[in-house]
Amino acid sequence: MNEVGIDGVEIRTGKLQLDLAETFAPAQGEDPGKYTKGLGLRASSLPDVYEDIVTMGANAAHRLMERKGVDLEDIGRIDVATESAFDKSKPVSTYVAGCLEQVFAGDLHHANKGERKFACVSGTQALDDAFNWIRAGRSRGRKALVIATDTALYERDDPGEATQGAGAVAMLIDEDPDVASFSTLQGYGSADETDFLKPNQQFPSVDGKRSMQVYLARMREALEDLETAGADTHPDNFALIPFHTPFPGMVKKAAVLGYRHCIRGTDIEAEIADEIGRQPRPEAFDDGEAYLDALKEYTDKLAETTQYAEWYERTVAPTLGISEHVGNWYTGSVHIARAAGLKAAAEDARDLTGQQMLVASYGSGAQAEIHAETIQPGWADEISQLSIDEQIQNRYDLSFEEYEQIHDVHNHDAETDLEPLTTPDGEFVFDGWGRMGERKYTYVE
Ligand code: HMG
Repeated sequence: MNEVGIDGVEIRTGKLQLDLAETFAPAQGEDPGKYTKGLGLRASSLPDVYEDIVTMGANAAHRLMERKGVDLEDIGRIDVATESAFDKSKPVSTYVAGCLEQVFAGDLHHANKGERKFACVSGTQALDDAFNWIRAGRSRGRKALVIATDTALYERDDPGEATQGAGAVAMLIDEDPDVASFSTLQGYGSADETDFLKPNQQFPSVDGKRSMQVYLARMREALEDLETAGADTHPDNFALIPFHTPFPGMVKKAAVLGYRHCIRGTDIEAEIADEIGRQPRPEAFDDGEAYLDALKEYTDKLAETTQYAEWYERTVAPTLGISEHVGNWYTGSVHIARAAGLKAAAEDARDLTGQQMLVASYGSGAQAEIHAETIQPGWADEISQLSIDEQIQNRYDLSFEEYEQIHDVHNHDAETDLEPLTTPDGEFVFDGWGRMGERKYTYVE
């Protein structure tokens, strides 16, 4: 049976940036180090007046399809994963299809379209749906277009405001993929949680500190479930480990816990035992609290070992290279982490063909999903065609006053009239409202 997976990927960032150290920190009266060192973020991407989840998704898909020589008749399915949808009935994928039909010959009437929701994990769920559709023999040789797109805004002055972001990732899922093939092994950690939710509201209600605990707990369950499914999670088995990245500091916390779990009982644990001892085992403690204290002490020492530092620099650090400049893109976040890791590896001329990535997705509410992917021979060529560095470089740098206005422009409850801060060029733009309250889009040459 042919491999199925990601044949191509394209990333589209919002065209504005909020510099967290230079612009946001002084306005908040905070030390810039809180954002740059504590959270690990330098800037947030935000959409200009004429950008939204549809334009970013359609612009990413357009460039991807042109690059890969894909026509509308080649696409059998379009799934959009988002938690920023503006319609409870008509899916965002229909708007994206309408955009693509403006620039490509033919139409997408034959394509099955839908929308996926489960906070940030829904982008990965949409990849799964595409995989299953192809593997079930229902694709008739056509490809699936999966788009993860979000405008991740928080209420002004919410602690989450520093982690905002906006952008889209478009992925083509197909047989004999160029980038990475999926495996059938998956691990889940899923529970009914109320840490981050949007009950019929645009901006999330968030219990930030709790959301971090829930992230770690569900990731741990997903890893254990993956092992139960038969995966060998020895840390040296993976060339890259892209995580859902709400901010790089969150990934740092998760990575050391994951490493501790995966080295238990392995040669690595034995090798560093002289330096920091063996991991505490619960059966050696009468008191649960004493066990947890000992575990924390071991984890702190583990984070200081050369073995951990080398593993982190090789497998995790490269995946954070885009996130730190753009913030949290919710559904797209783990997919920019995968792309960033591969991009850094290509720039370092690492030979990753045939090697494994362990992809750790997460969505609040809450569910983690972890699976392995195998890197395919075409990966470096495909990834070298990304234009994300240039896009990040060319963003318009907002003053704090402009940021406040832009936040209002995208706030569904605020009435603001603001001229665009950038000029559209060869892209889809939001072009006003139709007679039934629908959003309208045009392609600007
Ligand atoms: P906060 O409470 O304002 O920040 O918001 P803090 O005071 O905890 O500081 C952050 C870190 O900076 C801390 O590091 C500080 O010590 C450090 P830590 O102790 O945790 O290691 N710090 C400094 N470091 C250096 N120099 C300084 C300095 N000052 C402080 N001067 C919080 C933090 C994450 C709670 C907030 O941003 C938030 O609420 N974010 C939104 C929720 C979130 O991102 N949760 C992450 C897990 S849930 C998830 O990933 C799902 C999500 O993507 C949604 C979805 O699935 O749809 C969010």
